[in-house]
Amino acid sequence: MSEEEIIQSSEAQIAVHWKEEEYIYPSAQFIAQANMTEPHVYERFSLECFPECFKEYADMLTWYQYWHTTLDTSDAPCWKWFVGGRINVCFNCVDRHLPRNKNKAAILYVPEPEDEPHVALTYQELYVRVNEFAALLKEFAEIKAGDRITIHMPMVPELPITMLACARLGAIHSVVFGGFSGKACGERIADSGSRVLVTMDGYYRNGKLLEHKEKADTALEVAQEKGQAVDKVLVWSRYRGKYVSKAPMVKDRDYLVGDLLKDYVGKRVDPVSVPAEAPLFLMYTSGTTGSPKGCQHSTGGYLAYVTGTSKYVQDIHPEDVYWCMADIGWITGHSYIVYGPLALAATSVMYEGVPTYPDVGRPWRIAEQLDVNIFHTAPTTIRMLRKAGPDEPQKYNYHFKHMTTVGEPIEPEVWQWYYQAVGKGEAVIVDTWWQTETGGFLCSTMPAIEPMKAGSAGPGVPGVHPVIYDEDGNEVEAGSAKAGNICIRNPWPGAFQTIWGDRERYVSTYYAKYCKNKGSKDWRDWPYFTGDGAVQSQDGYFRILGRVDDVINVAGHRLGTKELESASLTVQEVAEAAVVPLADELKGRIPDMYVSLKPGYEAGQEIEGKVVKAIETIIGKMARPKHVYVVPDMPKTRSGKIMRRVLAAISNTMDIGDVTTLANPEIVEEIRKMVQGEGVVATKEGSEDLKHFGEEG
Ligand code: WT7
Repeated sequence: MSEEEIIQSSEAQIAVHWKEEEYIYPSAQFIAQANMTEPHVYERFSLECFPECFKEYADMLTWYQYWHTTLDTSDAPCWKWFVGGRINVCFNCVDRHLPRNKNKAAILYVPEPEDEPHVALTYQELYVRVNEFAALLKEFAEIKAGDRITIHMPMVPELPITMLACARLGAIHSVVFGGFSGKACGERIADSGSRVLVTMDGYYRNGKLLEHKEKADTALEVAQEKGQAVDKVLVWSRYRGKYVSKAPMVKDRDYLVGDLLKDYVGKRVDPVSVPAEAPLFLMYTSGTTGSPKGCQHSTGGYLAYVTGTSKYVQDIHPEDVYWCMADIGWITGHSYIVYGPLALAATSVMYEGVPTYPDVGRPWRIAEQLDVNIFHTAPTTIRMLRKAGPDEPQKYNYHFKHMTTVGEPIEPEVWQWYYQAVGKGEAVIVDTWWQTETGGFLCSTMPAIEPMKAGSAGPGVPGVHPVIYDEDGNEVEAGSAKAGNICIRNPWPGAFQTIWGDRERYVSTYYAKYCKNKGSKDWRDWPYFTGDGAVQSQDGYFRILGRVDDVINVAGHRLGTKELESASLTVQEVAEAAVVPLADELKGRIPDMYVSLKPGYEAGQEIEGKVVKAIETIIGKMARPKHVYVVPDMPKTRSGKIMRRVLAAISNTMDIGDVTTLANPEIVEEIRKMVQGEGVVATKEGSEDLKHFGEEG
């Protein structure tokens, strides 16, 4: 079934009931210092002022050449922003700050082992290190503008250094999250056509120095099988002058960056001026079907958008100490650890490890030591810190003025703990809703202008105009308590340009469903389909309900059912696989895997172990299922489709509904007993994404 068909038939007309939360207002102290306090900002960014309103964000940047066309729609729906403009991202994030801020910390790096010293990298030092590495990339690796480079690295300062060096040369980076397997990395190398891989020997996680370089060896094999040869692997060292990995260095292929850099000491490379619409990076993300999609982000539009939203929504001032605890390997880290904050000459904190190492007080200790005043994390982390150390924050003398939650819907109780305990009742919270594809925020309250409401993302940010459509494309009214598909009426500069090498998939996934006229060059005919369900209250605030497609959001990481199921099917004994989301107290959702076996094989722990192992090596440890159930058969429709909705109801002890029309209704009770045990278990009210999961497929 094609992605288009799945979207076409997705169910979104769901009536939902929830308690409206009270408004909570930002403090006078916060408002007094905020970057944006003008309620008129919404008029300035109204649809009447579109697209010219975004000049305000582009003017926060330094251009080599000013643009002549703010938005070019001639190749709809591939939008081009600030056309005619020429710019360099590295210059904007580094060089231009030197005259006033060269001695200020750009990056404050906190290694996981607590006895290792923090590293403060000033803008001058960042400038030197980026230039030297850019010179190496240019001369040794022969990288030029437009080339793709895959970066598979953990949270170390060398990661943003590598990204900025690519940007300096106009090369397109593709950062693969360090926790992804070598195989996943190899597939992304092949899709992007990278001939250089930048990696690292090892890193700390949860008290252990993990092996990382060995993943590069697998990655290169996988890329080679897919026809992509990598000629150079550049390996950074966790400890300067050492190599902590056990994987051998392959002669004439693998190079220690530390050795190579000796030839580039003091070298400078002029930033390459590129057109505003040149791609800056690719970021792969999961979809409903098929392989991960390389979201292609632009240079000028993207940087303008993340800079503008970092200033107004994140309220970053140059004197702030800003800490976003995401990983740079995800879009949050790209936009709101690296590019947005650095474009504003802020100090951005980077932490190597897990928040609970060596104990649950670690984040608050870091906040106290560095005097962090802006904090940014995800609900899954907030839930974990709340569970393990609810009273921990008050033991530390830090004070946040601003906090962000991002990545999944947050429960009002969890929000309240974040507000009261972590924020000490002083900090404003923004619940920012957006996606890998969108480059930057779509919905959020403006922190000094609108009150907060626990569990609601708020209205569209300035210049972003969301709308909820029902299945037939009718607008669902605010305050109707009806859920539907949340879409965006207009393009915005941070939006991705296309899926790398697959424009058709880009159009069919994001624009086909509600396009009013496929031949149109008018942006009004091309609403952007986000794939999320939402409801809008009377006051215009949106509450996001989760994905309407077969994507499972595990701890804020998107996993496609297809990827998980294909990985399970690589186990020789497995005949069929179906994965469903299981509600999890900490991670939000977690995969529950059902498999049936080929004839002649017996169920057993061995097979369960093999399925887990396959998922870990093909995707990565974060995709590990909670359970693997080996079932005698899958519940199926008469036409042979697996009923994932029924399995999701069983996993989540929800009402299974009517199954009498299935081809094999008796199997449902058998599986239910296997999962829930003998006897009848009281069913729970599940949330919307669980109730309707897999209905379309
Ligand atoms: C999906 C995008 C945005 C960067 C991190 C995740 C969900 C994201 C929120 C939020 C409720 C949220 C959506 C979205 N999501 N932020 N504040 N409230 N849900 O990026 O991996 O591309 O995932 O995450 O379902 O579609 P991503």
